[in-house]
Amino acid sequence: MVNGDAKKEEILQAFHFRHATKEFDPSRKIPEEDFDFILETGRLSPSSFGFEPWRFLVIESKELREKIRNTAWGAYGKLPEASHFVVILARTIKDTKYDTDYLKDHFSKVKELPNDMMEKYLERIEEFQKEDFRLLEGNRPLFDWASKQTYIALANMMTAAAQIGVDSCPIEGFNSDSMNQLLEEEGLLEDGHFKISVMVAFGYRVKEPREKTRRPFEDVVKRV
Ligand SMILES: Cc1cc2nc3c(=O)[nH]c(=O)nc-3n(C[C@H](O)[C@H](O)[C@H](O)COP(=O)(O)O)c2cc1C
Repeated sequence: MVNGDAKKEEILQAFHFRHATKEFDPSRKIPEEDFDFILETGRLSPSSFGFEPWRFLVIESKELREKIRNTAWGAYGKLPEASHFVVILARTIKDTKYDTDYLKDHFSKVKELPNDMMEKYLERIEEFQKEDFRLLEGNRPLFDWASKQTYIALANMMTAAAQIGVDSCPIEGFNSDSMNQLLEEEGLLEDGHFKISVMVAFGYRVKEPREKTRRPFEDVVKRV
């Protein structure tokens, strides 16, 4: 056996185990220690320029879970049954534009960049946002770019969950204006610094899913 084969097999098994769980077992709760492990894999996820433009709102309040269930069509059928439910927020232009206080604070305090390095880095980011990716033309691009980063954390959390036998379902089934309005009313968007990106339910399956279907390897991989 080639070194690492058992590990690869275990990882692939987790990828086969993971499926978009349609129905969660209301009687089973994920131990908090396991759920913290899942969240930690989200926290450790990579993001462009290291912005970490996310927040993971773990919805514990019964009332809020009910409100989300009635607002987001994709959450209906997942709530209240799912053991844990996370609304993933992305930072808005108030934090992600190259000249914001958030970025200055983040790069100096969290990333511990010396001032001169930080200034150079922010200049590079300014050029990237203005020229390379044209993120400052219109309202959507910068937010969508931050939102893209949150999907990396989403994927890592779902994969980590699968590796410890926890099921999940990513949820884009919502009207973003309605969800943002609800979260705003609940005081969770911090004065427009955050908006909803995507949601994800975690728990344990009630029944086995259909066998996984995917396009053939040769179709999705092109070596050039
Ligand atoms: C970003 C994203 C959003 C999704 N939103 C929903 C959703 O709202 N409701 C749902 O039941 N499934 C949702 N799905 C699940 C997909 O339909 C599912 O992942 C896909 O059909 C592949 O099936 P599998 O995950 O079981 O392998 C979503 C998946 C992703 C990646």
